[in-house]
Amino acid sequence: MNRKINEAPEVFECTGKTASGGAGIKESLTEEKLAKISEICNTFGNDPGELINVLHEVQHAFGYIPAEVQEAVARNLHLSAAQVYGVVTFYTFFSMIPKGEHPISVCTGTACHVRGAESVLEEFRKELQLEVGETSSDGKFSLNCLRCVGACGLAPVVLVGERVYGRVSPDGVKAIIAEYREKKLH
Ligand code: FES
Repeated sequence: MNRKINEAPEVFECTGKTASGGAGIKESLTEEKLAKISEICNTFGNDPGELINVLHEVQHAFGYIPAEVQEAVARNLHLSAAQVYGVVTFYTFFSMIPKGEHPISVCTGTACHVRGAESVLEEFRKELQLEVGETSSDGKFSLNCLRCVGACGLAPVVLVGERVYGRVSPDGVKAIIAEYREKKLH
């Protein structure tokens, strides 16, 4: 079974309460995490107009933005939880679930799309048995899409973590996955 939004991620302590707004299980945040969120919001003057920048920093700090983190951000920026949830779910670069050890992102920007990104993505879905936005149950891989990573000359482009693969064909997908399955690369 693959990990979905409403499963309990390991890094936050689950209290078993249900989140409002369908954002998943609500979990308690440690004082340390709350302080970190406040610190980030303070850096941006607790300005609601800086929400996207705040969320980028928060995701960088925690790896993903679960419901209770969104609520803490909302409190700090004097926004509603629904407003924050709306932004997190609108942009594909924000995630509400923990990424896999090897996060795979297929660029679906225009140049990559024209050069066959969809069939590359389809091959990853088939090989990993994952839908876009899911993380494998062993936590090894997650699959996502990105919009133009600025390497259009190499289209279609796939990122695995920080590593960039260019001119990827569906036939090359198995080999990329194998590199990480066999733990040759990190
Ligand atoms: S569209 Fe994929 S790198 Fe630019």
